[in-house]
Amino acid sequence: MTDRLTSLMARGTAFLGSETAIICGAMSWVSERHLVSAVSNAGGFGLIACGAMTPALLDAEIAATKALTSKPFGVNLITMHPQLFDLIDVCNAHDVSHIVLAGGLPPRGSIEAIKANGAMVICFAPALALAKKLHRSGVDALVIEGMEAGGHIGPVATGVLAQEILPAMARELPVFVAGGIGHGEAIAAYLEMGAAGVQLGTRFACAAESIAHPNFKKAFFRASARDAVASVQVDPRLPVIPVRALKNAGTEAFTAKQREVAALLDAGQVDMGEAQLQIEHYWAGALRRAVIDGDVENGSLMAGQSVGMVTGEEPVAQIIATLMSEARAALERRAA
Ligand SMILES: Cc1cc2nc3c(=O)[nH]c(=O)nc-3n(C[C@H](O)[C@H](O)[C@H](O)COP(=O)(O)O)c2cc1C
Repeated sequence: MTDRLTSLMARGTAFLGSETAIICGAMSWVSERHLVSAVSNAGGFGLIACGAMTPALLDAEIAATKALTSKPFGVNLITMHPQLFDLIDVCNAHDVSHIVLAGGLPPRGSIEAIKANGAMVICFAPALALAKKLHRSGVDALVIEGMEAGGHIGPVATGVLAQEILPAMARELPVFVAGGIGHGEAIAAYLEMGAAGVQLGTRFACAAESIAHPNFKKAFFRASARDAVASVQVDPRLPVIPVRALKNAGTEAFTAKQREVAALLDAGQVDMGEAQLQIEHYWAGALRRAVIDGDVENGSLMAGQSVGMVTGEEPVAQIIATLMSEARAALERRAA
């Protein structure tokens, strides 16, 4: 007999080709072959974070992931990557089934280039008007991500985006909800609101299979929701996308970095596009310092507010099983 959770997830699982409609959101440096294959092998949907990888590196990462799982997984590409179209070609050469375009609206021709190979395109919708526009442009599914999430964030909370976007769009295409989800109770609620599934990052970042440094994981286990704070924009002329991370010395260093880039902008030494690229390179480097080198003081500990619900290292399969049983219990309780 199909239970309510399975039927609420049916659209998401059919779309993803996975057993559960739980996506492990791409996390730069963290979402590589080991975590991605572990998630897909455990019935979730893993995503490789391409980040600033070159096409050759992405090619090797996809091949290595394929060697570790026969289950479907996807690739997350950042739209401002200067070689975006070469990266799409790499994904197509591997017949990657799902590509997420993150970090801004998809540039002209990118959706078509992905769909030409029959792959599914997933985009982030930060507002209802953009959700409609993306749907019209042929995007196959949407992720709505609230400001509770770890990493780069928008200004609106998950609960508000869900109320604004799910009733209007969930019938049109699969919509996955992300940001602040750490317990199956919330998964049940968003599915009942019409979501096809969910995307979690913070909850998976410190899984046993994650290559994140033990210091990085320890910082997560100690932290509570209020420690995961959004970065502050120090100069109104330099619009920086806020990043949510655990507060440390690196948080102050980012303020200094913004002042440095704003001064270059003032002196006419860089234009706005270059200034923003410099900020993004800074984040990629800072995240690497924390995730790979274990420098949890000066590196960036990108984490969402659900970090308080991450209390110890668990295998991915156990995390997914816990989330599913919590969601199932919540639905049963509500039905009773
Ligand atoms: C350490 C870390 C790195 C991340 N890097 C990326 C990234 O490279 N690309 C991206 O689209 N999202 C990135 N995210 C966002 C996640 O994919 C996911 O959407 C988010 O973590 C979901 O919210 P949650 O943290 O509340 O679970 C990152 C999140 C974290 C915690």
